[in-house]
Amino acid sequence: MSPFALTRILPEDATGAALRADVLHGLTGTPKTLPPKWFYDARGSALFEQITELPEYYPTRAEREILITRSGEIARAAGARTLVELGSGSSDKTRHLLDALTDLRLYVPVDVSESALTLAGRALVAERPALAVHALIADFTAPLTLPRSPGPRLLAFLGGTIGNLLPAERAEFYAAVRALLSPGDALLLGTDLVKDEGVLVRAYDDAAGVTAAFNKNVLTVVDRELGADFDPGAFDHVALWDADNEWIEMRLRSRRAQTVKVPALDLAVHFAAGEELRTEVSAKFREEGVRTELAAAGLELTHWWTDTEGRFALSLSVVG
Ligand code: SAH
Ligand code: AVI
Repeated sequence: MSPFALTRILPEDATGAALRADVLHGLTGTPKTLPPKWFYDARGSALFEQITELPEYYPTRAEREILITRSGEIARAAGARTLVELGSGSSDKTRHLLDALTDLRLYVPVDVSESALTLAGRALVAERPALAVHALIADFTAPLTLPRSPGPRLLAFLGGTIGNLLPAERAEFYAAVRALLSPGDALLLGTDLVKDEGVLVRAYDDAAGVTAAFNKNVLTVVDRELGADFDPGAFDHVALWDADNEWIEMRLRSRRAQTVKVPALDLAVHFAAGEELRTEVSAKFREEGVRTELAAAGLELTHWWTDTEGRFALSLSVVG
């Protein structure tokens, strides 16, 4: 079997401190918010995998279609010997890229979810004896140091996860990505595209209620990690389209007036009946917007591919 290494860049206590800081900031602000990275404990990662199979959730299938069609072209353009993937999750779609990148020496999946990295890494090295995998438990919104690895590097950020960052966070993220790349390296970016509101809202409010369970899982994480007494049943899942910002917003709406205690923060948080807590934005993009945001960070978009229905795009960019 090929080598599999798992490095924790985030120490356990740093994760706890970061969660405490985010919960304190998010639940004492107006409106109340929580950052989406806290969805992804083992249960949240498994629920996300279920979401990718839902009939309403098209992004995973659309991006897979592009990868199946275009991985050869991507591999020829990138010629990568190292593939770094941010927010890699199950690494499932990545297999199309791994098949096409014939000179690849090292795959570096980076994720906050230890369970997702362990499952994916073990499966990959069992399947691909020639591939070295060095997984990093790390937050891609924090400064990242990559292991020494042969160039050229292809940095992949798939799934449309870029849309889960707010515009200012995206600008910071692109600048950090630019700093990680050397001439000859490339960024492969998956972006979900603006489309019919009904299609979008159904993708985030599925009939089976899996996305509702995923959304409420963040409350379960805060309960377990910080001793809070959120009752997930006391909140309703809400998904709405914000046409001005061109993003889907997921919220949790309090079914009644209630006070939630968070002992680790010595905090009591009051929710009015109907008050909403924002848990995620999922921005949808247009080609010009993506090109402009990348250019602002010194990245030049060289390729733009969509699925046949024009729902999702993959783009390749190089250091400009
Ligand atoms: N790329 C996969 C998974 C997308 S789900 C796909 O396309 O299907 C988003 C992934 O990003 C999850 O695995 C989650 O754990 C990870 N993630 C979310 N926020 C993160 C952060 N700030 N730093 C690192 N990983 C993060
Ligand atoms: C990971 N990310 C791209 C997903 C999305 O579509 O924004 C997370 C998700 N939220 C609800 N469903 C899926």
